[in-house]
Amino acid sequence: MIDLSGKVAIVTGGTRGIGAAIVEMCAGLGARVVFTGRDDSAGAGVVEKCGAESGARFLQGDVTGPGFPDLLVADVLAREGRIDILVNNAGILSRGDVVACSDAQWDATLETNVTAVFRLCRAIVPIMRRQSTATGRGGAIVNIASDWAIVGAVNAVAYGASKGAIAQLTRSMAADHARDGIRVNAICPGDTETGMLLSERGAAPRADVLAELGKSIPLGRVAKPEEIAAAVAFLASDAAGFITGVLLPVDGGHTAW
Ligand SMILES: NC(=O)c1ccc[n+]([C@@H]2O[C@H](COP(=O)([O-])OP(=O)(O)OC[C@H]3O[C@@H](n4cnc5c(N)ncnc54)[C@H](O)[C@@H]3O)[C@@H](O)[C@H]2O)c1
Repeated sequence: MIDLSGKVAIVTGGTRGIGAAIVEMCAGLGARVVFTGRDDSAGAGVVEKCGAESGARFLQGDVTGPGFPDLLVADVLAREGRIDILVNNAGILSRGDVVACSDAQWDATLETNVTAVFRLCRAIVPIMRRQSTATGRGGAIVNIASDWAIVGAVNAVAYGASKGAIAQLTRSMAADHARDGIRVNAICPGDTETGMLLSERGAAPRADVLAELGKSIPLGRVAKPEEIAAAVAFLASDAAGFITGVLLPVDGGHTAW
């Protein structure tokens, strides 16, 4: 049912973790994927995993660079001719409650997790709108929020605020652009087995960390990146053609009770 053949997708932060899984999943389902990130060799590794026949391509760049959205859009339009899917995945976690959070932490977190998403959407929505008018095929945007867009973040006030903003950006854009043929949804992952989750736990053995984290999740374990990617692929596909403005938790039941 989930077929992305003939679609052109952009994924930000696709060199590792959830982003890399999204790139591989979308490429495997037939999309031509252009993904961004800062690490050239990690980008090359993901391209190799997708296979040359997939047409997956890496474009190096920092999503917070002011000229980056225009550069990315120009590159993709010149080489692929259209943009059907945008997945805003790149994000950073910063720790601290409201007293401990510095201005620099707050600014960096909001800049990466919110402002960069806003700027990229601003560059891509007009293209999807034009496509919709010309061909009846607009586009789908999937933002990666967090379970902390639904419940309060613990000791991560800037991160929680940034993901709450993504939730409302998603709903507001869905309302504004439904008639433009553009669907806008968000995935709210719970704890997922990636560098972001594990890097905080220092040298503790991976299996012990995952087992401990899994205890607080109703399904009894943290997510695998592919499980988040599968939900992204669904929302990006025509199978979700009547879904827009949704925040979909993929969190093993964490926010349900
Ligand atoms: N892992 C989790 O438990 C979890 C839970 C909820 C939400 N999320 C969200 O999922 C998304 C992916 O997280 P992850 O766990 O894979 O993290 P990760 O740290 O493993 O990967 C994040 C990716 O974003 C990229 N990135 C960060 N800042 C960037 C910038 N300025 N320019 C370009 N690329 C940049 C990184 O290079 C990396 O490729 C994030 O938005 C995160 O907030 C993760």
